[in-house]
Parts: sequence; structure tokens; C-alpha cells
Amino acid sequence: MVARTPTHRIRRSADKDPDSSWDVSTETIDDTRGNPSDHTSFSPLTGQEDQWWRHAVVYQVYLRSFSDGNGDGQGDIAGLRARLDHVESLGVDAIWVNPWYESPLNDGGYDVADYRSIHPLFGDLGEARALIEESRRRGIRVIADLVPNHTSSEHAWFQAALAAPEGSVERSRYHFRPGRGVEGERPPNDWQSVFGGPAWSRVADGDWYLHLFDVTQPDLNWSNEEVREEFLSILEFWLDLGVSGFRVDVAHGKSKHPDYQDVGGVVDHLDPAWASGGHPTWDRTEVHEIVRDWRGVVDRYPGAMLVAEAWVASWDRLARYLRPGEYHQAFDFLFLQSPWDAESMRSRVDEAVEATMSVGATPTWALSNHDVVRHLTRYALPGDVDAGEWLLGGDRDLLDLDLGRRRARAAVLLTMALPGSVYIYQGEELGLPEVHDLAPQVLDDPVWRTSGHTRKGRDGCRVPIPWTRGGSSYGFGTGGSWLPQPPEWGRLSVEAQNTEKHSMLHLYRRAIDLRRRLLGADLTFAWLQAEADALSYKHGQIVSIVNFGSRPLDLPEGEVLLLSAPLEGGRVPVDGAAWIHAPGHVSPVK
Ligand code: GLC
Repeated sequence: MVARTPTHRIRRSADKDPDSSWDVSTETIDDTRGNPSDHTSFSPLTGQEDQWWRHAVVYQVYLRSFSDGNGDGQGDIAGLRARLDHVESLGVDAIWVNPWYESPLNDGGYDVADYRSIHPLFGDLGEARALIEESRRRGIRVIADLVPNHTSSEHAWFQAALAAPEGSVERSRYHFRPGRGVEGERPPNDWQSVFGGPAWSRVADGDWYLHLFDVTQPDLNWSNEEVREEFLSILEFWLDLGVSGFRVDVAHGKSKHPDYQDVGGVVDHLDPAWASGGHPTWDRTEVHEIVRDWRGVVDRYPGAMLVAEAWVASWDRLARYLRPGEYHQAFDFLFLQSPWDAESMRSRVDEAVEATMSVGATPTWALSNHDVVRHLTRYALPGDVDAGEWLLGGDRDLLDLDLGRRRARAAVLLTMALPGSVYIYQGEELGLPEVHDLAPQVLDDPVWRTSGHTRKGRDGCRVPIPWTRGGSSYGFGTGGSWLPQPPEWGRLSVEAQNTEKHSMLHLYRRAIDLRRRLLGADLTFAWLQAEADALSYKHGQIVSIVNFGSRPLDLPEGEVLLLSAPLEGGRVPVDGAAWIHAPGHVSPVK
């Protein structure tokens, strides 16, 4: 840990904001030090920037809810192509597109029926190729979503397995087992589905199959050579089409213990008790062999990368996925889940930086995604309230959206200057809250059904995003939106925020631009001295200070680059943050 007191003076801008409390420099920062992440060197993409992900900003597109190009109420590739100006205006390096494959959409497309085709609702392969090429011309890469733990029950392999007898080759691609009890009437073991209920369902001839998620998502058998070969070929298919890598769904899944032993009821696999690779279904040692095989394909494509969605018990376990020859990156759910608290945030940053660097990787920072309650809403609730539980009838008076918005703005300045890469979930750049009051009859997430209505599910963070102040579905499309949008979303639209000087949208754009110009691939990072309920760090040429406390904070000396909220008497307000320009000395690596 390196403590350092910054010594830079505040330089006043020549072109002052009329509201002086928002005063930030408008001078041109010319010290870009030949920053390799400058977009000009990315356009057109040459493949030269082979390790681009180490400091990238990636924008997550939940296709169904991004923009509807054909007026059927569902987002699609045509809609995304039509909105690439918005994505480019953010200054991001890549787009990660949630699953777009042929699918019954029982789990938002994470139930894949054909891994080599695009769902007609979203477009076709020609459109996917056009999207990749158009994005590439703008200096933006496209990352696809790979779903290897399970297929859809509509996948040809599963249909063939149902038609084939017990013990057949067709069934050996999945986990079919005889049941327990005299008549085999009880499931083969006590494993539970992540979405709720038993992880086994019985087919007509009495055999049972495993589904760790929805009943329509049978788990593949990764001990089967044909399964392994098939995924190598799927990787090649999409890399040949031009994607720059994959977000790998349930990277901690796939492998199962061959004895299928009981786990003793509902046991949380994130419990540190399981942090030894001994769980029969999650985070098993064998999953590392699988990714090593994949690298044999991925490494043939310059600039291609793999980012793991791995829910594991600790950073010790997660770092194993990032060892040389394995994943290039992994999402950090410990940081994402941190309460709004300086100590917790700091220790989670420390853990992530130390663990990733110990294996030569870099951290990733994300605050939201399509599976969790949007962070603006999480930050708007008291720290001891579980946002997921609160969705289901919690006290609405606990929600303070102004507070959530202030914190979400400060969180931009907290995360965007950290070393490593940042993942932004569509709509967070507009400050969208969770839509917490969706009526039960519109809920689509299998979590709602499978949990027996004890968990509301993830629809509230998947509501189509607003583009215009008014009009059909606020510009999402001409035919309404598949989930209802709240009436106040017109005010949060891209159109509305484009004209507001201090909008969330401008904050994201400005932060990403400064980050690109002042940080680049630089990984030098050090904490600075700060009050107990504040965080301050220096990374490259940026000092970031975030106030988690209950009184305004002194601003470090130096040129103010960016503020999340107006200063109060020259000080950083409660739940506010600031960036100060700190050229010159380079802090040592932690
Ligand atoms: C991942 C996805 C989630 C999906 C689940 C099952 O966690 O992010 O949306 O439901 O895998 O595929």
C-alpha cells in the first residue's frame, strides 16, 4: 500500500461554467503520451492491439431491450446497427452482445437451440456480419456470448436424446440417470436448480436428466468428447465471422463429479466451505482443462479474448481462471455486490488488483448487468436491505432514488479510473433505475416461475431503454416494447440527456474520454491518504476521490477534471466524487 499526498494546485479554467460549483477545466490535456488505446489507432482495427481488453471499456448490449429495428416490440441487430452512433459517442472499445442465437427464449436466449444461427427475432447471420463490420469501421469490437453449460431442450441433440433409449450415445451428451426409489420415482440425487426446485426432471421412459438452471436447459456432459469437439468448432465459427472473443456463460459450470453424490440439501456453492474444487457441480478442477483447449482455437485469432462469468467462493478461486493459458478476464462480482461503503469498496479493489496481478491478468469493474438489480436502485436502498428480496413487496418508502443517483454518479468516477477494464450495462449511462413495480403478468424471467414466485427475477433490469422524450416506447421502436417502460423514462432518454449539460450520459462520455487520454494501458495504481470514509487513489495521471461519508471533503490540489456533483463551498459533497489531473510523477505499482 502506498500513501501519497498530492501536491498539485487547482488551475482555474479560462472558460468558466456559470455555476462555479461545477467548475472544471476546459483546457486541452495534451499529455496523451502516445496512448495506445486512442481510438485513432483502433480504426480500422488491425489486430495489432492484441491485448486491448486489458484496459478496455466494454458496453453490454441486451439485444432484446436495446433498440427495435422492425417494430415488433423486441430489440434486434437492425436496431443496434441503427444506434451505433450512440455506442460510438460513449467512446467504448467493444460491445458484448447477450445471446442472439436460435432459442425458445425461455431464459432470455441462454437456452440455445442452434449455436450457429441467429434468432429470426434478432436478425440473421448476414446482419450479424454487417454489425461486426460496421462496428469495426468505428473502432469497436464485438464480443459474443458463449453458453456451454447447457443447451435448450429444443436443441437437436436433446431432441435426439429424448427419442433415443436409455444408455444411448445420444443421451450420453447430457446427464441422464436412473432415479432412486423402488420405481426410480425419486431424482437421482438432491441437487437443486439455481432458479429454484430440483435440478432433475423425468422423461417419458422414466430416466431423469440434469438441468442446473431451467427445466428447458439440460446440462451438457463435458466428459463426452463429442461435446468438447463441438464447442471448439462453435468458437471457430464465430471467430471466422469476425467476433473478437466471447463472454463465457457459467464458466464455473460444465464439469460434474462422475459419482453424482448428494450435497446435503440446498447448499450455497459460494460458501467458502466449497472453495477447494470439491463441489460436485461448480468450480471443479476439470473446468480449467476445458478453457485450455479453447485457447488452442482462440489464440489463432489475434486480439480475440475470453471473459469468464464465474461465480466462485473467493478471489483465490477466481484467480485460477486467469492463469496464463486460461481466461483473459473474469467478472468481479465481489466488487459489483459491494455495499456503498468506503472500507468494503477499498478491500474489494485491493483483492481484485492483487489477485489479478498475481497471475499476470488485469481486473474488470462492473456495477450492473442483466442478472442483478440495477446499481442505482441498490445504492438507493439502506445498506442492510437485500435489493433482490426488496423487489418482492419490500417497503417502497425505503427507496431514495435521488440518493441512488448521486451515488451512481460518484461510482462512475470511482470505477472508471481504476486499473483494468470497465464493463457498462446498457442504460446505466442514462442512470436508469430498476423497474421494481412490473406487474406479475408481464414477468418473463424463469426465476419468477421456477422459484414458485418467491423471487421476482431479473426483468426489472431488462426493460427496453428510452431513446426519445416521447413517442412509441420512447423511441425504442415503432411497435411498443416487450416490457412496459415507466412514464418518467422520457426524461431519462438519450435525447433528453444529450441537451442537459450535467446529465449522466455526459458524465459517462467525459469520464471515458478522459480515461482513454490520461490512463491508456498504464497500470500504475496507488491509494492516497484520505479520511476514513473516503477513498482516494492515483492511477496514471488521474487522482480520484470519492466521499462515502457524511460531511463534505477537502478537494486535493490540482486541476479539477471532472465532478460527479457540484462542489459545496469548494469541497466534495457527501456521495460525490472528483477527478484531479495529476501529471508528472508516476506512482509505483502496488
Ligand atoms: C448466466 C446468465 C444468466 C442465465 C444463466 C443461465 O448466469 O448471465 O442470465 O440465466 O447464466 O444460462
